[in-house]
Amino acid sequence: MKVIVRHDKEEAEKVVADLIAGEVRTNPEIVMSLPTGSTPVGVFSELTRMHEEEGLDFSSVTCFNMDEYVGLGRDHAQSYYRFLRENLYERVGMSLENTFSPDACAANLGRAADDYSSLIKRAGGFDLTFLGIGRDGHISFNMPSDALHPLTHVERLSEAAVRDNARFFEDVSEVPTQAITIGMRNILESRRIVLLALGEAKAPVVARWLGSGLVTTWLPASFLWLHPDVTVVLDQGAASELR
Ligand code: GLP
Repeated sequence: MKVIVRHDKEEAEKVVADLIAGEVRTNPEIVMSLPTGSTPVGVFSELTRMHEEEGLDFSSVTCFNMDEYVGLGRDHAQSYYRFLRENLYERVGMSLENTFSPDACAANLGRAADDYSSLIKRAGGFDLTFLGIGRDGHISFNMPSDALHPLTHVERLSEAAVRDNARFFEDVSEVPTQAITIGMRNILESRRIVLLALGEAKAPVVARWLGSGLVTTWLPASFLWLHPDVTVVLDQGAASELR
């Protein structure tokens, strides 16, 4: 695992944007799995700048949303698909036909999750997965637990995750309590993985994870120790509790 620490948020975001841009240039038909939340916003802005000013071409790129809140349609203001459509897909001229998200409004959510895993498999899996990390160590929406799911599945969100994500909603009662998320195997089968953590709020979990080389279901990000090509990018805030 390669760990890169940069002085501030913008420099850390630039490292990740450059890594993604390099992969897109090398393989214009790349298949990527992408996160939501606050963390990727600056990276998406930099990729948009590269598209506009440097002609970074996303026209043949395929993107999979890694998760979606159960019950939110693609046009809901807080849906993860809409977030990625507005923050990246439309801004870099992607064909929306090449963008995918789990059907989190399906009558049969289990089947919708299985269908998403099949779709990922048909696409040949992910060339690159870009992750954020929750303060409890979750990646995508794979929550700390006794056991983790390999493939795409329905996940009940922890109270902490609901609380953390409430800032995007009018009231905490509006935050969905379930999501469809890609599973640990979907992530670990990715050819390359980059994880970005920003700010002091992430420092405790980053220290707990990187300070120990152990793998535990109670810190889902720790499974990234098992993967041969992971780059972790931190700003000084997120790295502040590392020894
Ligand atoms: C949500 C998303 C994750 C994301 C995490 C951290 O739980 N499902 O993919 O990494 O939030 O979000 P933030 O970047 O806002 O801290």
